[in-house]
Amino acid sequence: EKGGYDHFMLKEIHEQPKAIRDTLASRTKNGLVDLSKEISLSKEEIQNIEKIHFVACGTAYHAGMVGKYVFEELARIPVECDVASEYRYRNPIITERTLVIVVSQSGETADTLAALREAKKQGARVVAITNVVGSSVAREADDVIITWAGPEIAVASTKAYTSQLIAIYLLGVYFAQVRGHKSAAELQEIVTHLQELPGKAEQVLKLEKSIESFARSIAKHQNLFFLGRGLDFAVALEGSLKLKEISYIHSEAYAAGELKHGTLALIEENIPVISLATQKSVYDKMVSNIQEVKARGAHILGLAVEGDTELRKSVDEVIRIPATIDLLTPVLAVIPLQLIAYYACVERGYDVDKPRNLAKSVTVE
Ligand code: F6R
Repeated sequence: EKGGYDHFMLKEIHEQPKAIRDTLASRTKNGLVDLSKEISLSKEEIQNIEKIHFVACGTAYHAGMVGKYVFEELARIPVECDVASEYRYRNPIITERTLVIVVSQSGETADTLAALREAKKQGARVVAITNVVGSSVAREADDVIITWAGPEIAVASTKAYTSQLIAIYLLGVYFAQVRGHKSAAELQEIVTHLQELPGKAEQVLKLEKSIESFARSIAKHQNLFFLGRGLDFAVALEGSLKLKEISYIHSEAYAAGELKHGTLALIEENIPVISLATQKSVYDKMVSNIQEVKARGAHILGLAVEGDTELRKSVDEVIRIPATIDLLTPVLAVIPLQLIAYYACVERGYDVDKPRNLAKSVTVE
């Protein structure tokens, strides 16, 4: 059942090229996105959306954080992203022109479902992104985009997350087509890059051996940092959650520009720091943050994009993922972080697929 892999998590990490391909399949037409079978919102309704709320928990919430960048960039709609357990109790400002997008692998998370119900009660339209056909969230939302990741058995979510990202990109491009903030040519280019992601994800998986050796080398540490800016920060949060969740190494993810506002004090000799530097628009800023950390003796793994020969000069080790456009990089950048969490857990001898104190589906508040 584990298909020759030692654990479900490793199997599911390796299933990501297929999960991405399946989630994209039959949702593009003439080089653009076609979600007309799944999204019942009319052109006019999409044009009239005033704001979007992403609501989810855990890893799905981290996908929503990527969604904030995607919808603001492509469709120029203001986006908030909230964890469901906060959203439902904070009296959020919802109108009939608010679109609430709930993201849930299982479709059964109690807080996410309650947030969905609250949003509907207040008149919002709700789109659900979920991996389970017929789940509570799928049944109660107005529209559903299924992620075709297939069953996810390991408690730590991997292929569901990357598939959620794909669903978000598809919906973002679809809205952009309708709202006309980008030209068809620009959007077609994004779609072309989306279609190249399964192959590029396979390339990332070929880096497994070097990622494994880094992961095993950090397994003895008690503390670790993830740094990134922009979309790299959203991915850093997910990498940090994955590591904590299964390897029980304490880690924190920081927006790299925030370091000087306190956290730099915690950077001491030899502490491992995983620094993501995949975003061109903030690359130079990121490199100077990395240098600040290096000056305090951190041991830095840099995550760069193929063709980057600069970063190597400021870090101790570097992993290079295939190049794509900045917007889509999270799909590829998260894979090394999933593998780091996995191999750190294996090295420490913990139960990969069933971490302590956690359940796959959280159906209590
Ligand atoms: C982390 C993880 C959890 C879930 C969260 C939401 O690896 O799996 O953080 O992402 O419990 O679950 P769903 O997506 O089923 O609503």
